[in-house]
Amino acid sequence: MHTNSTRDGNKNGYKNSNFAKITLMKAGILGGGQLGRMLLQAAANYTVETFVLENDPHCPAAHLCHNFILGDITNFDDVYAFGKKVDVLTIEIENVNIEALEKLEAEGVKVIPKPSAIKIIKNKIKQKGFYQVNEIPTSDFVVTHTKESLPHHHAFLPAVHKLGEGGYDGKGVQIIRTKDDFEKGFDAPSVLEKMVAIDKELAMIVAIAQDGSATLYPPAEMIFDPVLNLLDYQISPAILPEKVSWKAEAIALKLVKAFNSPGLFAVELFVTKDEEVFVNETAPRVHNSGHHSIEANYSSQYDMLWRIMLNYPLGNPDAILPSAIVNILGAEGHSGEAVYTNLADVLGMDNVFVHLYGKKQTKPGRKMGHVTIMHKDYQDLRYKANKIKHTLKVEAKNS
Ligand SMILES: Nc1ncnc2c1ncn2[C@@H]1O[C@H](COP(=O)(O)OP(=O)(O)O)[C@@H](O)[C@H]1O
Ligand SMILES: [Mg+2]
Repeated sequence: MHTNSTRDGNKNGYKNSNFAKITLMKAGILGGGQLGRMLLQAAANYTVETFVLENDPHCPAAHLCHNFILGDITNFDDVYAFGKKVDVLTIEIENVNIEALEKLEAEGVKVIPKPSAIKIIKNKIKQKGFYQVNEIPTSDFVVTHTKESLPHHHAFLPAVHKLGEGGYDGKGVQIIRTKDDFEKGFDAPSVLEKMVAIDKELAMIVAIAQDGSATLYPPAEMIFDPVLNLLDYQISPAILPEKVSWKAEAIALKLVKAFNSPGLFAVELFVTKDEEVFVNETAPRVHNSGHHSIEANYSSQYDMLWRIMLNYPLGNPDAILPSAIVNILGAEGHSGEAVYTNLADVLGMDNVFVHLYGKKQTKPGRKMGHVTIMHKDYQDLRYKANKIKHTLKVEAKNS
């Protein structure tokens, strides 16, 4: 079902002569969270010296890189000085200093993805405008600047209000169902978009190599917690009518190619009951929806990004087995030093892989780790996902 032109190309022999000799490269990651940590785990297979820039010396990625540099990823001088140390640079979060990346790129540092792509994606207003210009299906929207202006757009209701910059993990997103909810809107540049009657939420990860060749991971279906507005669990490959799969693949590929940049991108999509497909948002980096690929796909999203950055042939994104991801979140009412309750029960389950991010402190809803489950039978995945959610708890030591 899944086509992969790049892999077929590799079977015929990789044409890039850069591969005759592989030398040690210096690679930098802006941001030291769990995505950076998992990226570093994959780097250990290759000839690469790793550098991380982050302002917290105890961040999840700090102890897995060769060189940890303390600094602010949003500060021009910090990012510029960091970038000067490396051959190739990537991000694990969009909120970085773009001007420094542009200067570094102009001076010959390979920045993947290109700063021009990060600049569009970093701002939800620019991102939605980009979809419009490139004729990518997305929900109708208007740009708003103040909270007072929201009632002018009552014809848009029910709608979703999204902060232009700085939102993450559902913060920076407000559901505006009725006029009474305008109160909850943002008093800053934002987009107000029509609410889509979502049947399924998908994520498609697309890899673009430096020579422009592309490959896609099978779609993942994300199942959300309506209260926390956070991912509940995820199943991959999503079970979809063939027509929806094709649409999702075609839209994701068209969109990512429009950025004109190598990199690993995640496209979040909405599917309606009528099998319409809309783009929600894009991330120009490794993504939460791809954690399962560490065990469940031949080349993980992290491995794939190294292949892109080091200018190696792309890997095989296909699924080895269906899988589910359960996020391990800090329990409600618990803040302080993290204690993992019933972890041994989860470790004792078959085909279950535990990833803890090394965060010492927990707080309600904080992403502390994830668990990947692999099984050929989707029933088994759902059963174990639910069981893990109700078994494993992250609590604070003294509460
Ligand atoms: N236009 C929309 N219609 C319906 N639900 C939406 C819409 N936009 C966002 N949502 C819901 O809110 C969630 C978070 O929004 P998103 O834009 O992805 O923000 P975040 O940056 O926090 O991931 C989505 O995964 C989806 O469940
Ligand atoms: Mg999202």
